[in-house]
Amino acid sequence: MTTLQLEPLHPFAAEASGIDLSQPLSPAQVREVEAAMDRHAVLVFRGQPLTEDQQIAFARNFGPLDMGLHKVKTGPRRFRHAELADISNVKVDGELADRAHAKIVSNLANQLWHSDSSFQRPRAKYSMLSAVVVPAEGGDTEYADLRMAYDALPAWRRQQLEQRVAVHYALHSRFLLGDTEYTEAQRRAIEPAHWPLVQTDPRSGRRILFVGAHACEVLGMTVPEGRMLLMDLLEHATQREFVYRHRWQVGDLVMWDNTATLHRGRHYDFAQRRELRRATTEEVTTSVEAQALELAA
Ligand SMILES: [Fe+2]
Repeated sequence: MTTLQLEPLHPFAAEASGIDLSQPLSPAQVREVEAAMDRHAVLVFRGQPLTEDQQIAFARNFGPLDMGLHKVKTGPRRFRHAELADISNVKVDGELADRAHAKIVSNLANQLWHSDSSFQRPRAKYSMLSAVVVPAEGGDTEYADLRMAYDALPAWRRQQLEQRVAVHYALHSRFLLGDTEYTEAQRRAIEPAHWPLVQTDPRSGRRILFVGAHACEVLGMTVPEGRMLLMDLLEHATQREFVYRHRWQVGDLVMWDNTATLHRGRHYDFAQRRELRRATTEEVTTSVEAQALELAA
């Protein structure tokens, strides 16, 4: 029996309804959501405010949960679950963070086009972001489809990228912003991950141009050559026709596939509260990973 209803918002994003995310999902409902993700890569569920526990329970349906940058940045948290990422401009004490605070640097880094945790292995598969407090203006999230980006590449470019591997490093996007105050131990806490620039999704069979702000080098190229190529590809992948812009309402839950899309937060006034909570699964499939290891060898 079909319970999930989908209303297209963009060629790769859809509004999803018909399932109550606060309740346990049946195996059939989980399969329906996964099939919808294969097709759309971004699903928007409106009017589904979740508690921390409910959000964790929903996310666990889709795999083991990812801990992101917690390995580098430890310390007190606002949430009971370490698996929930605090995407906000609010400190642990509930007060707004000031401009120099690490939370604000994090917010700014999130405004670069990226795929969550592409700097680690396993990388992130699905992110599920729940809106708790949203600002009056700004703070939208944009999504770009890396499958559409691949499909639009000219043949010469596809040929150039075949068998090419990019290095993704956790702190590269921070360094881009001039956030360089990290100890040697922190710099080494997460080894760079290697991912093929062109991948084939093992579920949908679609080809993907896997780029983003964590990619800092291309194996077999000089650093400047690789970096220029990555910048060109990122510009190609994020042209307006491949982008869906989400205007947040409190109670929205947006779910996206990090292996098939990029996203970025958009500017907002840091004097206004913006509080979102993210749960993320790790990728469990290994065919792309096997390809990455083979190419990097
Ligand atoms: Fe993100």
